[in-house]
Amino acid sequence: MLTNDRFLKACLGEKTDRTPLWLMRQAGRYLPEYNATRAKAGSFLGLAKNPAYATEVTLQPLDRYPLDAAILFSDILTIPDAMGLGLQFAAGEGPSFQHPLRSEDEVKKLRPADLQQLQYVFDAVAQIRQALIQDGKQRVPLIGFSGSPWTLACYMIDGSGSDDFRHAKTMMFNRPDLLKHILDINAQSVAAYLGEQLRSGAQALMIFDTWGGLLPDGWYQRISLASMRSVIDQLPREVNGQKVPIIIFTKGGGLWLEDMADVGADVIGLDWTMSIAKARTLLVSKNKPLALQGNFDPIALFAKPEQITQEAIGILDSLAKAPALKSGLHPLDGHIFNLGHGISQFTNPDAVTVLAKAVLEHSAQLRKAV
Ligand code: CP3
Repeated sequence: MLTNDRFLKACLGEKTDRTPLWLMRQAGRYLPEYNATRAKAGSFLGLAKNPAYATEVTLQPLDRYPLDAAILFSDILTIPDAMGLGLQFAAGEGPSFQHPLRSEDEVKKLRPADLQQLQYVFDAVAQIRQALIQDGKQRVPLIGFSGSPWTLACYMIDGSGSDDFRHAKTMMFNRPDLLKHILDINAQSVAAYLGEQLRSGAQALMIFDTWGGLLPDGWYQRISLASMRSVIDQLPREVNGQKVPIIIFTKGGGLWLEDMADVGADVIGLDWTMSIAKARTLLVSKNKPLALQGNFDPIALFAKPEQITQEAIGILDSLAKAPALKSGLHPLDGHIFNLGHGISQFTNPDAVTVLAKAVLEHSAQLRKAV
């Protein structure tokens, strides 16, 4: 019932004819059609909270580029919003919360997110699934997502974006008990939220741990990774007999690859600081055959077209020389091509066309030349 199941196959370490491709933040401000829908909606939150608009923008990049997955259009901060922290997006600025968690009193009052307040997200998932159907078949699978408990805690404690999230990290060092309380509530909320996305029609899940890389070694494993493990432990692994792949992505987490491989995820997302080929070699040598996702530097999309092509070919060529995930597979199987982080709003949409062409053609060609 899927026209294109390359993405799901690659996540589960199965053979594909070419490498699947999707882009973090593929629906976003670099696309003029996104900006037009956002203008109709009035604001980013107006867009994200309206399932019809969220469906419209989710499909926009698929109509433009040969992408192999759709990702729910939403935001990681919907969960703390549904906890009553008061999410705001001031025009031209990032997100902020009216009620950040700074005092013991504020932390102790925190309650798990009210899933009823997140019904707009589940409605969007169901509507996107419907909208993906063309000629009786679903074009590509739909990815649902959440922030990691730690990354959500960063915004909840600091109250907005930050270079160092020093309030969150100070709480971690001084009052680990308070941070643990927040992480436990977040893990419970994230698991319930992702579980409901699955019931609404999501076919794979991604946990964005954007700020895990801010943690010292040791703290990362105890704080961010442990709470992601708790989320994964609470999730169903199959829906209607179909295995649901789980992707974890810690930005800056390349050094912790082996630890990340042990939390029960199927796919590890990497940023551009770690080589996909080295990651594959290491994981295979440790008998941890997880699929990998990434890791084209999103700023390389600002380079001239020939250089964009070269950068993409470089990732594929190096992986083609690494060991295969399992016997019988090509080394390129079990890799999902993506950026190492979200696409910049200043990207020229034509640069993505160049990238997609390079990935599609070269990854198919390398598989033929045995
Ligand atoms: O990938 C997709 O196409 C799905 C949509 C998606 C958005 N946010 C839409 C969005 C996803 C997966 C996210 C995740 C997200 N949100 C993360 C984790 C991934 C990452 O990028 O690190 C984080 C940290 C957030 C929090 C957030 N939301 C920030 C810091 C910002 C402002 C930064 C910016 O780019 O302006 C947002 C807003 C946001 N979320 C936008 C989009 C398309 C831009 C807002 C707009 O249209 O005005």
